[in-house]
Amino acid sequence: MALSETIKAGPAAGKLDHIPGHMGLPIFGNTFEFIKDPFAFHQWQRERYGPIYKVSIFGGQTVVLRGADALEYVLMDRDKNFGSREGWRLLQQLFPNGLMLRDFDDHRSHRRIMQVAFKPKPMQDYMLRLNEGIASNLTAWAPSQRFEFYPAIKNLTLELGASVFLGLEMGDEAAQLNQAFVDEVAASIAVIRKPWPGTKMRRGVKARAFLLEYFRDMIPARRDGDGDDMFSQFCQAKSEDGAFFSDDEIVDHLNFLLMAAHDTTTSALTTMIWALARYPEWQDAVRGEVMALGTEQLDYDAMDRLELTERVFKEALRFRPPVPFLPRFARRPFEFGGYEIPGETSISVSPGLVAMSETIWTDPTRFDPDRFSDNRAEDRRHRFGWSPFGGGAHKCIGMHFAIMQVRAFVHQFVQHYRVALPEGYQPRWQTIPIPKPKDGLPVILSKL
Ligand code: HEM
Repeated sequence: MALSETIKAGPAAGKLDHIPGHMGLPIFGNTFEFIKDPFAFHQWQRERYGPIYKVSIFGGQTVVLRGADALEYVLMDRDKNFGSREGWRLLQQLFPNGLMLRDFDDHRSHRRIMQVAFKPKPMQDYMLRLNEGIASNLTAWAPSQRFEFYPAIKNLTLELGASVFLGLEMGDEAAQLNQAFVDEVAASIAVIRKPWPGTKMRRGVKARAFLLEYFRDMIPARRDGDGDDMFSQFCQAKSEDGAFFSDDEIVDHLNFLLMAAHDTTTSALTTMIWALARYPEWQDAVRGEVMALGTEQLDYDAMDRLELTERVFKEALRFRPPVPFLPRFARRPFEFGGYEIPGETSISVSPGLVAMSETIWTDPTRFDPDRFSDNRAEDRRHRFGWSPFGGGAHKCIGMHFAIMQVRAFVHQFVQHYRVALPEGYQPRWQTIPIPKPKDGLPVILSKL
């Protein structure tokens, strides 16, 4: 049967009877259990049903494939079977044409154009903007016995994003832009999927319209100018046959890119600072290697010399990955782990669950950056053991940018401040859609 016929043949409902799993409540399925604690939910399923099971989340049945082999098989997708657009269906209303919601040839041609903005020369320009933005924002932080780190870093990453991505100084519109991103992300996991009045989805859809219009107004100046921000790069980049992105493509790409960059990096930096506060010996080690570089701001060429910082950051991403679950949509039937899985089935693979796997990591629940040292190299036990940035065709396009931003921030932060946790502090995290501390992560911030 041709692929187009298979796709029209209707959903996979009823075809998953041979896959084990507990589908929860009528209508809502396992959604509430999953939102409450995704890791505990999956552990429960794994213990009962093994490494392959079905769940029902956000109104759709999904087959979960556990383990690093499954991650590799699905993400490398040698048979072009696993669509990302249909997989990320929760994002379709809000980010319909973002890079991650494109597939195969169309995805490849858009990605190739966007890559221009991530080459070494533009990256060096972004580094200057990052360093400048971090320096001016950090000096305004007020040391306190109860400094809420999460809102402060979210505000900082928004300012950096405005500068690097849009070429803007953030002014009065900062709060409105921030709220629009918050509303878009919150809508992505809204239980009510229709934009009815008063719903999260309605706020998300309105936020999208606001942001698209905001970006669209800036296109003419970016097309004519010679700015070194990402927005300008997208306006001027051409495909192999000389075509520019259309205005619609530009605003959609920017909207998705900012969302993909903002909350993920904020989340990663929050876990990183929690780790430095929780493990003062690592904070001292990181500060030591930063001081040894002897520069106020991090040079682009010196980035790779922050080896211990890198270890802590890798462990922070393993410990609390910003994107723990990756959905895909199987277009055709396939076989994996002894099961025949029918076509038109939603699939979920998980870098977050693999990051806690005892078959790959030694004592995985322990925060232990040295597992990434050359002599232990636990991350090299499987190609997909450590994959917080995904892998294959959709591997995070902003990975190097994110790593650069985190290094630039930590480099300045530890030179100015010491950070500690209040006595007996236990963080409470919201895991999805992107992990964040429910209490804003109150830390003791003191000047060095
Ligand atoms: C610590 C920070 C970040 C993490 C953990 C992260 C994680 C990820 C992951 C796991 C994917 C793959 C999703 C999939 O396969 O379904 C992804 C894709 C993507 N990320 Fe990131 N990301 C981060 C930062 C960024 C930044 C800073 C940018 C932009 C500068 C960015 C832009 C994107 C884009 C555009 C995609 C889609 C790529 C494609 O479909 O080809 N991300 N990210």
